[in-house]
Amino acid sequence: MHLLAIETSCDETAAAVLRGDAAVLSNVVLSQDEIHAPYGGVVPELASRQHIKSIGFVVHDSLAGAGVALEDIDHFAVTQGPGLVGSLLVGLSFAKGLAYYHKKPLIGIDHVQAHIQAAFLEHKDIPFPILALIVSGGHTSLFFLKKSLSFELLGRTRDDAAGEALDKIAKFLELGYPGGPVIQKLAEPGDPGRFEFALPRMSDRSLDFSFSGLKTAALRIIREHRLSKSDPRLPDFLASFESAVVRALLDNLSRAASRHDPASVLLGGGVARNRRLRTDFERQARRFGLAAYIPSPKLCTDNAAMVGALALTRIEHEKKGREKAFFLDLDAYPRMPV
Ligand code: KG4
Ligand code: ZN
Repeated sequence: MHLLAIETSCDETAAAVLRGDAAVLSNVVLSQDEIHAPYGGVVPELASRQHIKSIGFVVHDSLAGAGVALEDIDHFAVTQGPGLVGSLLVGLSFAKGLAYYHKKPLIGIDHVQAHIQAAFLEHKDIPFPILALIVSGGHTSLFFLKKSLSFELLGRTRDDAAGEALDKIAKFLELGYPGGPVIQKLAEPGDPGRFEFALPRMSDRSLDFSFSGLKTAALRIIREHRLSKSDPRLPDFLASFESAVVRALLDNLSRAASRHDPASVLLGGGVARNRRLRTDFERQARRFGLAAYIPSPKLCTDNAAMVGALALTRIEHEKKGREKAFFLDLDAYPRMPV
């Protein structure tokens, strides 16, 4: 059995071919970073137009890389949302056309849930219940999974996503796009204790996140200290900011862990590539006596292998008659369903 998965929710055009046992035969990702870099963030219209130009080549490359003919694909899967609607519609229409012509089932996949499933590509037996933290440019959410495919949302960001906050500060300092990797690099020699950041506090028992306060505090420090790209204090400032973002994420994770008593913790999304976050996440998990699972970096940022992984799990459940997985009337959705 072979499955072709397509992902176009933001600014990566991606396609992957997976075998029925979840072996990834190809995982092609074409980034649009160069196109959006001059603007310091993703320009939605440019993203959709680049997807429509690239999607055919990316799908072709993923099939060729896997050595599998289109006729031998048994299932198609595509990201349905959340994301930029124009971008989602490109992948969705392309996948729908393929599924329709080849008379094969098409499975609509949730992008954030796919980020969670990415960890299962490298670790088949992650013990449930799982506490999953997904941190990317568009999303910062905590989920509790009592069992496979049961995604209970515990908290989400009320304003900016963590990656978005990193990208915006990098943009303000003219450091380049995407901001996360640049900040990580420049912050490496810095002292994270030099600049103080107060962490956000939610008034209720909420497990929601907020990053707009940290972003505003960062902008205030930049102005007060007249920090610029070439300032020798920049590594210290960036290390302090990066570390504050990581602490805000892990504080919430710890509160959720004490309340929900998971067997393991899982990290995913583009910001999960961040070295400080990976190290501190593992340390925090050890403190709680929990097993920590973080996908390798290329499976953290947007890709189609994670979409395929979730689709295969759903097919498996469908076989057991638990879930209806196949639709041709799929629509795109911009935001995470509540
Ligand atoms: O998951 P992703 O590819 O796209 C979304 O679903 O949003 O995540 C992209 C985000 C960007 O905000 C980028 O700055 C951030 O991931 N990112 C990082 C690193 N690599 C990518 N943030 C911090 N450190 C990194 N090494
Ligand atoms: Zn993503």
